[in-house]
Amino acid sequence: MDKTNHAHHKTGFASRLGFVLAAAGSAVGLGNIWRFPYLAAKYGGGIFLLVYLILTVTFGFTLMITEISIGRRTGKSVIDAYGLAHKKFKPLGYAATLVPMIVLPYYCVIGGWVIKYLTVFVSFQGEAAANNKDYFDMFVSSTPQTTLFLVIFVLLTAGVVLMGVQKGIEKMSKIMMPVLIIMTIGISIYSLTVEGALEGLKFYILPDFSKFSIETIIAAMGQLFYSLSIAMGIMITYGSYMPKSASIETSTRQIEIFDTGVAFLSGLMIVPAVVAFSGGPEGVNAGPGLMFQTLPKVFMSMPGGNIVGIVFFLLVSLAALTSSISLMETVVAAICEKTKLKRKMACVAVMIGTVAVGMLSVLGFSVWSDVTILGKGILDFFDFISNNAIMPLVAMFTCILVGYVIKTKYVEEEVESSGVFKSKKLYRVMVKFIAPVCLLVIFIWAVFMPAL
Ligand code: PHE
Repeated sequence: MDKTNHAHHKTGFASRLGFVLAAAGSAVGLGNIWRFPYLAAKYGGGIFLLVYLILTVTFGFTLMITEISIGRRTGKSVIDAYGLAHKKFKPLGYAATLVPMIVLPYYCVIGGWVIKYLTVFVSFQGEAAANNKDYFDMFVSSTPQTTLFLVIFVLLTAGVVLMGVQKGIEKMSKIMMPVLIIMTIGISIYSLTVEGALEGLKFYILPDFSKFSIETIIAAMGQLFYSLSIAMGIMITYGSYMPKSASIETSTRQIEIFDTGVAFLSGLMIVPAVVAFSGGPEGVNAGPGLMFQTLPKVFMSMPGGNIVGIVFFLLVSLAALTSSISLMETVVAAICEKTKLKRKMACVAVMIGTVAVGMLSVLGFSVWSDVTILGKGILDFFDFISNNAIMPLVAMFTCILVGYVIKTKYVEEEVESSGVFKSKKLYRVMVKFIAPVCLLVIFIWAVFMPAL
């Protein structure tokens, strides 16, 4: 292995498609499935979808193309990438690395829950999970069980990362992402056939202007930002593995289409069926409540519900796995760059660290269920500081770095090295003036108005 660590010397993705699918794999995750449908239902259906779409091609586009370009131009992972872009911004690299370190452990805890539910449906016990309203609570409060599934999920993640960028991440993404799409479309179509789904579909697609407010926009911005895996160093790390000849703009657009497409399909999968089942939009909730309580009930009320459950939890497993892979890779790459550890050793270290820190969240549902920090349980606390506090700030300072310190040409040159930059004017205005303001608003809102 060449130790110069220069972009052209390290093994990256073999193809543009591989990069796009891996990055889309990171973007498509639990957020698309358990949060997007809920927000759409809450904030006026079609009007939310429209706002989200417009923000994706402007705001989301800007943040994503910035990170990918910094990654590819420097050829470094997070810390050194910021450091190389500008010496004074190295601390921002550390802040950005902190995010995947915080997120990975609890993301794996939830990934473990998903695997557990997959096993429940695979062994045809969906009925038990659907009919007993304490099933989920009993499961999460059983430390041996949740620990076991945490370890399984971490091992699955690490297995792919250990195989390397090309033979592990790229290869697996090329298999997992198409499968995920097919299954998502399949369930969407099926769940639209249940009685009463049409009412729910209207509710999801047609705009309800009475629910539109400034809050709609802020909610859409916050969701988008999380959904595209921005401000965690992931897109910088993956960008550093991107072939030099591949078009960054086209790739960014495709990742957006993938991410938004799956989010939209998740809504189709979930909103009409839940509305039909519970007789109204109030039934559409978010997070674990939706995924592990509401949906099992809804599935089991459908013909062939257990099979639907199997397919659904399989697709969620894939979505969660490709996201956790990107998180682990980002941490592993940062460690390799900052220490003398070999990739394999770094990976083992991260694996152990992830289980150890993940245990804090696991115990937060059992022996430490009384522990609260800032009024939140342990898992929610980790989620809060990373998503609501650090991420918007990292993204905001990244915009300031590019807009005012190293200037937009830093990104433009990299984009133009492999094609025309069609949205250059839009990009300039967004990154200098609009995006940083949006991010400040998201930060203030997310930290001080926690209900969102
Ligand atoms: N983008 C992911 C989602 O929508 C979230 C995520 C990915 C979080 C990777 C962390 C790491 O669920």
